[in-house]
Amino acid sequence: MKAIVCESYGPTSQLKIKVIEKPIPKEKEVMVKVHCSAVNDYDWSMVTGKPTLYRLLFGLFKPKNPIPGMELSGVVEACGVGVKNFTGGDEVYGDISRYGFGSFAEYICINEKALVKKPKNMSFENAAALSHAANLAWQGMVDLGEIKDGMNVLINGAGGGVGMIGFQIAKTYNCTVTGVDTGDKLLTMKERGFDQVIDYKEEDFTKRDEKYDLILDAKTTRAPKAYMKVLNTDGRYVTVGGVLGRLLQVFFAQKILKKPVYVLPLDANKDLDKIQELYESGKIKPVIDGPYPLEKTPWAIQHFGEGKHHGKVIVSIN
Ligand SMILES: NC(=O)c1ccc[n+]([C@@H]2O[C@H](COP(=O)([O-])OP(=O)(O)OC[C@H]3O[C@@H](n4cnc5c(N)ncnc54)[C@H](OP(=O)(O)O)[C@@H]3O)[C@@H](O)[C@H]2O)c1
Repeated sequence: MKAIVCESYGPTSQLKIKVIEKPIPKEKEVMVKVHCSAVNDYDWSMVTGKPTLYRLLFGLFKPKNPIPGMELSGVVEACGVGVKNFTGGDEVYGDISRYGFGSFAEYICINEKALVKKPKNMSFENAAALSHAANLAWQGMVDLGEIKDGMNVLINGAGGGVGMIGFQIAKTYNCTVTGVDTGDKLLTMKERGFDQVIDYKEEDFTKRDEKYDLILDAKTTRAPKAYMKVLNTDGRYVTVGGVLGRLLQVFFAQKILKKPVYVLPLDANKDLDKIQELYESGKIKPVIDGPYPLEKTPWAIQHFGEGKHHGKVIVSIN
Protein backbone atom coordinates (compact mmCIF):
# COMPACT_ATOMS: atom_id res chain seq x y z
CA MET A 1 0.00 0.00 0.00
CA LYS A 2 1.03 3.65 -0.40
CA ALA A 3 1.81 5.71 2.70
CA ILE A 4 3.46 8.99 3.64
CA VAL A 5 6.61 8.17 5.59
CA CYS A 6 8.58 10.45 7.91
CA GLU A 7 11.97 8.86 8.62
CA SER A 8 13.56 11.79 10.47
CA TYR A 9 12.58 15.14 11.94
CA GLY A 10 12.98 18.06 9.56
CA PRO A 11 11.28 20.03 6.80
CA THR A 12 8.15 18.65 5.13
CA SER A 13 10.20 18.21 1.92
CA GLN A 14 11.86 15.12 3.49
CA LEU A 15 8.50 13.30 3.66
CA LYS A 16 8.30 10.48 1.13
CA ILE A 17 5.45 8.58 -0.41
CA LYS A 18 6.44 4.90 -0.19
CA VAL A 19 4.98 1.52 -1.02
CA ILE A 20 5.00 -0.49 2.21
CA GLU A 21 3.41 -3.70 3.45
CA LYS A 22 -0.31 -3.60 4.14
CA PRO A 23 -0.85 -4.02 7.92
CA ILE A 24 -2.70 -6.98 9.47
CA PRO A 25 -5.18 -6.29 12.30
CA LYS A 26 -4.15 -7.53 15.74
CA GLU A 27 -6.57 -8.44 18.54
CA LYS A 28 -9.32 -5.78 18.93
CA GLU A 29 -8.05 -3.91 15.87
CA VAL A 30 -9.90 -3.15 12.66
CA MET A 31 -8.27 -2.66 9.28
CA VAL A 32 -9.67 0.46 7.65
CA LYS A 33 -9.37 1.39 4.00
CA VAL A 34 -8.76 5.10 4.54
CA HIS A 35 -10.83 7.47 2.39
CA CYS A 36 -9.84 10.80 3.93
CA SER A 37 -7.44 12.12 6.52
CA ALA A 38 -6.97 15.63 7.92
CA VAL A 39 -3.89 17.67 8.81
CA ASN A 40 -3.45 18.63 12.45
CA ASP A 41 -0.99 20.38 14.74
CA TYR A 42 0.25 16.92 15.76
CA ASP A 43 1.37 16.21 12.15
CA TRP A 44 3.29 19.47 11.92
CA SER A 45 5.02 18.72 15.27
CA MET A 46 5.67 15.09 14.38
CA VAL A 47 7.30 15.97 11.05
CA THR A 48 9.33 18.96 12.28
CA GLY A 49 10.09 17.51 15.75
CA LYS A 50 9.11 20.86 17.26
CA PRO A 51 8.42 21.86 19.99
CA THR A 52 11.28 19.57 21.11
CA LEU A 53 9.28 18.44 24.17
CA TYR A 54 6.86 16.65 21.81
CA ARG A 55 9.67 14.21 20.95
CA LEU A 56 8.88 12.52 24.27
CA LEU A 57 5.59 11.58 22.61
CA PHE A 58 6.75 10.92 19.04
CA GLY A 59 10.26 9.48 19.63
CA LEU A 60 13.49 11.10 20.86
CA PHE A 61 15.63 10.97 17.70
CA LYS A 62 13.08 10.10 14.99
CA PRO A 63 9.35 9.32 14.89
CA LYS A 64 8.63 5.86 16.38
CA ASN A 65 5.62 5.51 14.10
CA PRO A 66 6.83 7.00 10.80
CA ILE A 67 3.38 7.57 9.25
CA PRO A 68 1.68 10.82 10.32
CA GLY A 69 -2.11 11.37 10.48
CA MET A 70 -4.39 11.22 13.51
CA GLU A 71 -7.92 11.41 12.16
CA LEU A 72 -9.64 9.57 9.37
CA SER A 73 -12.75 8.39 7.65
CA GLY A 74 -12.95 5.15 5.73
CA VAL A 75 -14.43 1.68 5.41
CA VAL A 76 -13.69 -1.34 7.60
CA GLU A 77 -12.06 -4.00 5.47
CA ALA A 78 -11.19 -6.65 8.08
CA CYS A 79 -11.53 -7.21 11.82
CA GLY A 80 -9.04 -8.75 14.26
CA VAL A 81 -9.99 -11.25 16.96
CA GLY A 82 -12.29 -9.80 19.64
CA VAL A 83 -13.67 -6.84 17.65
CA LYS A 84 -17.24 -6.30 18.89
CA ASN A 85 -18.57 -3.11 17.33
CA PHE A 86 -17.68 -3.34 13.65
CA THR A 87 -17.88 -5.64 10.71
CA GLY A 88 -16.49 -5.52 7.15
CA GLY A 89 -18.09 -2.75 5.06
CA ASP A 90 -18.91 -0.42 7.98
CA GLU A 91 -18.20 3.24 7.24
CA VAL A 92 -16.27 4.73 10.14
CA TYR A 93 -14.47 7.87 11.28
CA GLY A 94 -12.64 9.15 14.32
CA ASP A 95 -9.75 10.84 16.08
CA ILE A 96 -7.31 7.95 16.52
CA SER A 97 -4.64 9.83 18.53
CA ARG A 98 -5.29 7.90 21.75
CA TYR A 99 -4.37 4.65 20.01
CA GLY A 100 -1.78 5.71 17.46
CA PHE A 101 -1.07 7.61 14.27
CA GLY A 102 -0.77 6.65 10.63
CA SER A 103 -3.83 7.78 8.69
CA PHE A 104 -1.86 9.23 5.74
CA ALA A 105 -1.86 5.75 4.22
CA GLU A 106 -4.16 3.64 2.10
CA TYR A 107 -4.83 1.27 5.03
CA ILE A 108 -4.47 1.45 8.80
CA CYS A 109 -5.02 -1.06 11.61
CA ILE A 110 -6.26 0.60 14.77
CA ASN A 111 -8.05 -0.33 18.00
CA GLU A 112 -11.80 -0.38 17.40
CA LYS A 113 -12.26 2.09 20.28
CA ALA A 114 -10.63 4.80 18.14
CA LEU A 115 -13.58 4.79 15.73
CA VAL A 116 -17.32 5.34 15.52
CA LYS A 117 -19.77 4.55 12.72
CA LYS A 118 -20.11 7.30 10.14
CA PRO A 119 -23.65 8.41 9.29
CA LYS A 120 -24.46 7.61 5.64
CA ASN A 121 -25.36 11.22 4.88
CA MET A 122 -21.98 12.54 6.09
CA SER A 123 -19.37 12.63 3.33
CA PHE A 124 -15.96 11.07 3.98
CA GLU A 125 -14.40 14.56 3.62
CA ASN A 126 -16.71 16.09 6.21
CA ALA A 127 -16.28 13.15 8.59
CA ALA A 128 -12.47 13.44 8.53
CA ALA A 129 -12.79 17.18 9.11
CA LEU A 130 -15.12 16.87 12.09
CA SER A 131 -13.80 14.21 14.44
CA HIS A 132 -10.95 16.10 16.14
CA ALA A 133 -11.74 19.80 15.69
CA ALA A 134 -15.46 19.54 16.43
CA ASN A 135 -14.78 17.63 19.66
CA LEU A 136 -12.28 20.26 20.77
CA ALA A 137 -14.75 23.01 19.94
CA TRP A 138 -17.69 21.27 21.60
CA GLN A 139 -15.82 20.34 24.78
CA GLY A 140 -14.25 23.82 24.95
CA MET A 141 -17.49 25.72 24.46
CA VAL A 142 -20.08 23.47 26.05
CA ASP A 143 -18.34 21.35 28.72
CA LEU A 144 -15.78 23.83 30.06
CA GLY A 145 -17.13 27.07 28.60
CA GLU A 146 -20.72 26.45 29.79
CA ILE A 147 -22.01 28.40 26.79
CA LYS A 148 -25.53 29.82 27.14
CA ASP A 149 -28.04 31.47 24.87
CA GLY A 150 -27.21 35.00 23.76
CA MET A 151 -23.67 35.19 25.18
CA ASN A 152 -21.01 37.50 23.77
CA VAL A 153 -18.31 35.08 22.56
CA LEU A 154 -14.79 35.62 21.19
CA ILE A 155 -12.80 32.95 19.37
CA ASN A 156 -9.05 33.49 19.09
CA GLY A 157 -7.45 31.66 16.15
CA ALA A 158 -10.94 31.55 14.64
CA GLY A 159 -10.03 30.82 11.02
CA GLY A 160 -8.67 27.32 11.69
CA GLY A 161 -10.34 23.94 12.22
CA VAL A 162 -11.58 24.49 15.77
CA GLY A 163 -12.55 28.13 15.33
CA MET A 164 -14.75 27.60 12.29
CA ILE A 165 -16.75 24.83 13.99
CA GLY A 166 -16.72 26.64 17.35
CA PHE A 167 -18.36 29.60 15.62
CA GLN A 168 -21.17 27.40 14.27
CA ILE A 169 -21.72 25.79 17.69
CA ALA A 170 -21.93 29.26 19.28
CA LYS A 171 -24.50 30.29 16.67
CA THR A 172 -26.74 27.36 17.68
CA TYR A 173 -26.87 29.18 21.06
CA ASN A 174 -27.72 32.49 19.32
CA CYS A 175 -24.47 34.04 20.52
CA THR A 176 -22.78 37.12 19.11
CA VAL A 177 -19.39 35.92 17.88
CA THR A 178 -16.16 37.85 17.32
CA GLY A 179 -13.34 36.00 15.54
CA VAL A 180 -9.64 36.85 15.74
CA ASP A 181 -7.28 35.73 12.98
CA THR A 182 -5.49 37.30 10.02
CA GLY A 183 -5.13 37.56 6.23
CA ASP A 184 -7.80 36.37 3.82
CA LYS A 185 -9.17 34.06 6.52
CA LEU A 186 -10.92 37.17 7.85
CA LEU A 187 -12.88 37.36 4.59
CA THR A 188 -13.93 33.68 4.86
CA MET A 189 -14.98 34.32 8.46
CA LYS A 190 -17.09 37.34 7.46
CA GLU A 191 -18.72 35.35 4.64
CA ARG A 192 -19.56 32.58 7.10
CA GLY A 193 -21.35 35.05 9.38
CA PHE A 194 -18.98 36.10 12.18
CA ASP A 195 -20.50 39.25 13.69
CA GLN A 196 -17.12 40.91 13.98
CA VAL A 197 -13.57 40.01 12.94
CA ILE A 198 -10.28 41.32 14.36
CA ASP A 199 -6.89 41.03 12.65
CA TYR A 200 -4.45 39.93 15.35
CA LYS A 201 -1.58 41.46 13.39
CA GLU A 202 -3.28 44.87 13.55
CA GLU A 203 -4.97 44.89 16.93
CA ASP A 204 -4.73 43.24 20.35
CA PHE A 205 -8.25 42.25 21.42
CA THR A 206 -7.19 42.14 25.08
CA LYS A 207 -6.56 45.90 24.91
CA ARG A 208 -10.08 46.70 23.72
CA ASP A 209 -12.95 47.90 25.95
CA GLU A 210 -15.36 45.16 24.82
CA LYS A 211 -15.87 42.29 27.28
CA TYR A 212 -16.91 38.69 26.60
CA ASP A 213 -18.86 35.98 28.42
CA LEU A 214 -16.77 33.26 26.80
CA ILE A 215 -13.39 33.22 25.07
CA LEU A 216 -12.34 30.08 23.17
CA ASP A 217 -8.66 30.10 22.25
CA ALA A 218 -6.76 27.88 19.79
CA LYS A 219 -3.47 29.79 20.07
CA THR A 220 -2.88 31.05 23.68
CA THR A 221 -0.13 33.57 23.19
CA ARG A 222 -0.81 35.70 26.29
CA ALA A 223 -0.70 35.43 30.08
CA PRO A 224 -4.03 34.67 31.83
CA LYS A 225 -4.35 38.18 33.29
CA ALA A 226 -4.61 39.65 29.76
CA TYR A 227 -7.63 37.43 29.03
CA MET A 228 -9.15 38.12 32.45
CA LYS A 229 -9.26 41.84 31.60
CA VAL A 230 -11.72 41.24 28.76
CA LEU A 231 -13.99 38.76 30.57
CA ASN A 232 -17.35 39.82 31.99
CA THR A 233 -18.18 38.95 35.59
CA ASP A 234 -18.87 35.17 35.48
CA GLY A 235 -17.13 35.04 32.09
CA ARG A 236 -14.88 32.08 31.22
CA TYR A 237 -11.74 31.65 29.16
CA VAL A 238 -11.07 28.20 27.68
CA THR A 239 -7.99 27.27 25.68
CA VAL A 240 -7.79 24.18 23.52
CA GLY A 241 -4.13 24.66 22.61
CA GLY A 242 -1.23 26.97 21.89
CA VAL A 243 2.12 28.00 23.32
CA LEU A 244 3.17 25.42 25.94
CA GLY A 245 4.44 27.94 28.54
CA ARG A 246 1.20 29.92 28.30
CA LEU A 247 -0.89 26.76 28.65
CA LEU A 248 0.98 25.98 31.89
CA GLN A 249 0.28 29.52 33.14
CA VAL A 250 -3.44 29.09 32.41
CA PHE A 251 -3.43 25.69 34.13
CA PHE A 252 -1.83 27.09 37.31
CA ALA A 253 -4.02 30.23 37.30
CA GLN A 254 -7.06 27.97 37.40
CA LYS A 255 -5.77 25.32 39.81
CA ILE A 256 -3.96 27.62 42.28
CA LEU A 257 -5.46 31.10 41.88
CA LYS A 258 -8.93 29.68 41.08
CA LYS A 259 -9.37 32.03 38.11
CA PRO A 260 -12.06 31.16 35.53
CA VAL A 261 -9.46 30.18 32.92
CA TYR A 262 -9.28 26.57 31.73
CA VAL A 263 -7.11 24.30 29.61
CA LEU A 264 -9.14 21.65 27.82
CA PRO A 265 -7.87 18.06 28.08
CA LEU A 266 -9.50 16.57 24.97
CA ASP A 267 -11.59 13.44 25.42
CA ALA A 268 -11.26 12.10 21.86
CA ASN A 269 -14.52 11.21 20.07
CA LYS A 270 -16.62 11.68 23.26
CA ASP A 271 -19.12 14.06 21.71
CA LEU A 272 -19.38 12.77 18.17
CA ASP A 273 -23.03 11.82 18.81
CA LYS A 274 -23.89 15.49 19.46
CA ILE A 275 -21.76 16.64 16.53
CA GLN A 276 -23.61 14.17 14.28
CA GLU A 277 -26.96 15.57 15.45
CA LEU A 278 -25.89 19.12 14.62
CA TYR A 279 -24.49 17.97 11.28
CA GLU A 280 -27.64 16.06 10.36
CA SER A 281 -29.87 19.02 11.24
CA GLY A 282 -27.70 21.23 8.99
CA LYS A 283 -26.48 23.41 11.87
CA ILE A 284 -22.79 22.69 11.38
CA LYS A 285 -20.74 22.08 8.27
CA PRO A 286 -16.96 21.97 8.31
CA VAL A 287 -14.98 24.46 6.26
CA ILE A 288 -12.73 22.34 4.05
CA ASP A 289 -9.41 23.27 2.50
CA GLY A 290 -8.88 20.66 -0.23
CA PRO A 291 -9.32 17.75 -0.60
CA TYR A 292 -5.77 17.15 -1.82
CA PRO A 293 -4.44 13.79 -3.14
CA LEU A 294 -2.17 11.63 -0.92
CA GLU A 295 0.86 12.64 -3.03
CA LYS A 296 0.31 16.27 -1.99
CA THR A 297 0.40 15.50 1.77
CA PRO A 298 3.88 17.04 2.33
CA TRP A 299 2.64 20.23 0.67
CA ALA A 300 -0.63 20.08 2.68
CA ILE A 301 1.27 19.77 5.99
CA GLN A 302 3.51 22.70 4.98
CA HIS A 303 0.43 24.74 3.97
CA PHE A 304 -1.02 24.06 7.44
CA GLY A 305 2.24 24.79 9.26
CA GLU A 306 2.52 28.16 7.54
CA GLY A 307 -1.04 28.99 8.67
CA LYS A 308 -2.22 29.49 5.08
CA HIS A 309 -5.14 27.09 5.42
CA HIS A 310 -8.83 27.88 5.92
CA GLY A 311 -10.68 25.50 8.24
CA LYS A 312 -9.58 21.85 7.93
CA VAL A 313 -6.99 20.64 5.43
CA ILE A 314 -8.27 17.35 3.98
CA VAL A 315 -6.31 14.67 2.12
CA SER A 316 -8.38 12.29 0.01
CA ILE A 317 -6.79 8.85 -0.23
CA ASN A 318 -8.95 6.13 -1.73
N1 LIG B 1 -6.63 20.24 24.26
C1 LIG B 1 -6.19 19.12 23.73
O1 LIG B 1 -6.25 18.04 24.35
C2 LIG B 1 -5.63 19.16 22.34
C3 LIG B 1 -5.39 17.99 21.62
C4 LIG B 1 -4.89 18.12 20.33
C5 LIG B 1 -4.63 19.37 19.79
N2 LIG B 1 -4.86 20.49 20.53
C6 LIG B 1 -4.62 21.86 20.05
O2 LIG B 1 -5.83 22.40 19.56
C7 LIG B 1 -5.53 23.43 18.66
C8 LIG B 1 -6.27 23.13 17.38
O3 LIG B 1 -6.55 24.29 16.73
P1 LIG B 1 -6.88 24.32 15.18
O4 LIG B 1 -6.86 22.95 14.62
O5 LIG B 1 -8.08 25.15 15.01
O6 LIG B 1 -5.57 25.08 14.66
P2 LIG B 1 -5.37 25.84 13.33
O7 LIG B 1 -6.23 25.25 12.25
O8 LIG B 1 -3.91 25.97 13.13
O9 LIG B 1 -6.00 27.31 13.62
C9 LIG B 1 -5.38 28.28 14.39
C10 LIG B 1 -5.57 29.63 13.71
O10 LIG B 1 -5.01 30.62 14.59
C11 LIG B 1 -4.34 31.60 13.79
N3 LIG B 1 -3.34 32.31 14.60
C12 LIG B 1 -1.99 32.16 14.62
N4 LIG B 1 -1.43 32.98 15.54
C13 LIG B 1 -2.44 33.67 16.10
C14 LIG B 1 -2.51 34.66 17.10
N5 LIG B 1 -1.41 35.13 17.71
N6 LIG B 1 -3.71 35.15 17.44
C15 LIG B 1 -4.84 34.71 16.83
N7 LIG B 1 -4.85 33.75 15.87
C16 LIG B 1 -3.67 33.23 15.52
C17 LIG B 1 -3.73 30.78 12.68
O11 LIG B 1 -3.47 31.63 11.58
P3 LIG B 1 -1.98 32.02 11.04
O12 LIG B 1 -1.04 30.94 11.48
O13 LIG B 1 -2.15 32.16 9.54
O14 LIG B 1 -1.64 33.32 11.60
C18 LIG B 1 -4.85 29.77 12.39
O15 LIG B 1 -5.75 30.27 11.43
C19 LIG B 1 -4.03 23.43 18.44
O16 LIG B 1 -3.46 24.44 19.22
C20 LIG B 1 -3.63 22.05 18.95
O17 LIG B 1 -2.31 22.03 19.44
C21 LIG B 1 -5.38 20.38 21.77
